[in-house]
Amino acid sequence: MTLYGVGLGPGEADLVTVRGKEILENADVVYSPGRLSRTVALEHVDESKIGDLDFPMTKDEEKLRAAWKDAAAEIAPNARDGDVAFVTLGDPNVYSTFGHLRRTIDAFHPDVDLEIVPGVSAVTAFATAMGVEIEAGAGLSLREAASGASPTGPDRMILFKVTDAPATHEGLVEAGYDVTYGRRLFMEQGETIVTDDPEELDERDYYTLAYAEREDLEVEQATAAFLEEDDADDATANDPDSSGEPVADGGEVAALEHAEGCEGGDCGGHR
Ligand SMILES: C[S@@+](CC[C@H](N)C(=O)[O-])C[C@H]1O[C@@H](n2cnc3c(N)ncnc32)[C@H](O)[C@@H]1O
Repeated sequence: MTLYGVGLGPGEADLVTVRGKEILENADVVYSPGRLSRTVALEHVDESKIGDLDFPMTKDEEKLRAAWKDAAAEIAPNARDGDVAFVTLGDPNVYSTFGHLRRTIDAFHPDVDLEIVPGVSAVTAFATAMGVEIEAGAGLSLREAASGASPTGPDRMILFKVTDAPATHEGLVEAGYDVTYGRRLFMEQGETIVTDDPEELDERDYYTLAYAEREDLEVEQATAAFLEEDDADDATANDPDSSGEPVADGGEVAALEHAEGCEGGDCGGHR
């Protein structure tokens, strides 16, 4: 039988994947590392299936290792006899407690079968929640900004663990970034906030991230020409001397030929 690491997504119960939900429903025991993940899991399984694990709030590595060993010792026998799930918010392989459990199981209970069910990570969910588009060809770096840190370098960054937004903001703006913050995105518990004002976030909340983009970043999109065309059409409509014929400069077609989906020169449909 199997131990499943199940990603629950950012927090709203209906953002659990269909596979994750099926596994939770069929598992004999469902373990969670924290209160929030437990609340989401309880939307899909009865409380009687929730297993107890004790994780100390500490950075002491010795104590943490002992806690993970205890957790693995509790989980392993149940995963040999039946199917069990260990849930985490987001994806189990992105900045997640599941990594500790997997390594501990590998070290002390290597006979336990293990499978991971990916979840919607805040790394991608932020884009929709905050109205950001990471267009094809763009780079995006994931960093941590705990305790007011302001990592810099990449053109675009997603920053986790923004626990002191005003201090992080100061460093990022000084380094030439535009920054937007997202708190409790797609989460049922607590208030969702999307803002570019760090003062709105001066109260610490672990479930806060930031998206930082260099203020001088230039992005050229083939489809941006449509907006320019709209503007030109508006100008023409307001010009009494105009014939009203749409004006194209030819450059737009050339740009579209390089757009996604036009590989191999098969762009006839655009003409
Ligand atoms: C330890 S990481 C866990 C990431 C998770 N495994 C994932 O894939 O989304 C926790 C950090 O992720 C970010 N985060 C996770 N879920 C979030 C949400 N719903 N809204 C805003 N930030 C979130 C926060 O920056 C938080 O400090």
